[in-house]
Amino acid sequence: MSKKYDALVAREKKVVCQTYGRYPLALSRGAGARLYDVDGKEYVDLLAGIAVVNLGHANAELAGVIAEQAKKLVHVSNLFYQENQIELAEKLVATSACDRVFFCNSGAEANEAAIKLARRYMRTVCYKDAGEIITVMGSFHGRTLGTLTATGQGGRIKEGFDPLPGGFVHVPCGDIEAMRAAITGKTAGVLLEMIQGEGGVLPLDKDYVQAVATMCREANCLFMVDEVQTGMCRTGKFWAHQHYGVEPDIFTCSKALANGLPMGAMLAKEHVAHGFVPGSHATTFGGGALVSAVAARTVDIMRRDDIPGRAARIGKVAMDAFRAIQAKHPGKIVAVRGLGLMIGIELAHNGPAVHAELRERGFICNLAHGEVLRLLPPLIIEQDDLLAFAAALDDILTKDGE
Ligand SMILES: Cc1ncc(COP(=O)(O)O)c(C=O)c1O
Repeated sequence: MSKKYDALVAREKKVVCQTYGRYPLALSRGAGARLYDVDGKEYVDLLAGIAVVNLGHANAELAGVIAEQAKKLVHVSNLFYQENQIELAEKLVATSACDRVFFCNSGAEANEAAIKLARRYMRTVCYKDAGEIITVMGSFHGRTLGTLTATGQGGRIKEGFDPLPGGFVHVPCGDIEAMRAAITGKTAGVLLEMIQGEGGVLPLDKDYVQAVATMCREANCLFMVDEVQTGMCRTGKFWAHQHYGVEPDIFTCSKALANGLPMGAMLAKEHVAHGFVPGSHATTFGGGALVSAVAARTVDIMRRDDIPGRAARIGKVAMDAFRAIQAKHPGKIVAVRGLGLMIGIELAHNGPAVHAELRERGFICNLAHGEVLRLLPPLIIEQDDLLAFAAALDDILTKDGE
């Protein structure tokens, strides 16, 4: 490691809360699907800041929007009407079957808004005392107390934070009968990720998702989708639920919404959105002029350049390449799964060593649960970059155990 890197690590250890297990890398610059560390070494970015920078680093068009808008208006609060926010809501609504948007600042906040709206809709629109939210095991919905409780994982992420709020039920993922048994007159809604991201890139079955949506409709509770990681064209459609032939009553998004600026949004069907009235929910920064302008242009670019089609096309090339490597090393790769450019390669063993070697060779990706190489590249990445990654992985696995 270089002196520059060591000095940064030493400073960080002194003043930043130690909540992250960081990779041994300090990054200083990006361009498209490339990142550069503090010593100038180049990397192919296959992570996009965890599915955030979908249109690439230092996107020139978005940099122009940031600069122009910063000179005009950055923030005034939601006490006022703001054209940028309204325009963005119109654009988001046009991408989906939902009708109204609530803006916030992160994925967890978007899910908090969904949970609050579901409960309030039940009480104030349906006149039903139903406040329970059902989620599935392995899910991840955020780190606020509410969304952490909604998250269907045990272990360290919940440790020491009790008392956690009540009203959350977890059921085994993919088990239709367990879901049927869990939905009662007390259920406000079911919240699902179409592909569990933090869980290790685990796509849900179409039959399961459709069955849950139908059960929710029949039980008069809400079917809600967490699109924080899967949304904004990541999976080859604007929203992952569009692969599944379902229309959520509420869905949430964040990560890639403003291509790296912090922003979240919750979208709801018209009748459901009536659960919120002035004063029932708010956030100071939500839908500010600057982030809204950037997000609106992000949506424009995604539609203009057919980014969903690109993610689907290039994702298939990558997936085919990874499946070929799996066929070559059946004992070393357990599974290759995903949709579009959300891809998980589950290794049988040596996850940390393979991941570190890939980084050494100039490829940045994530390692989930110690064994799944999680790829969430910028959607503008070139096919050749993905094939170069595949070749590096093939080479590492070939040498592994020799
Ligand atoms: C599916 C999903 N929901 C919610 C969140 C929480 O988002 P944030 O970290 O912006 O609060 C994440 C973050 O990884 C996520 O992947």
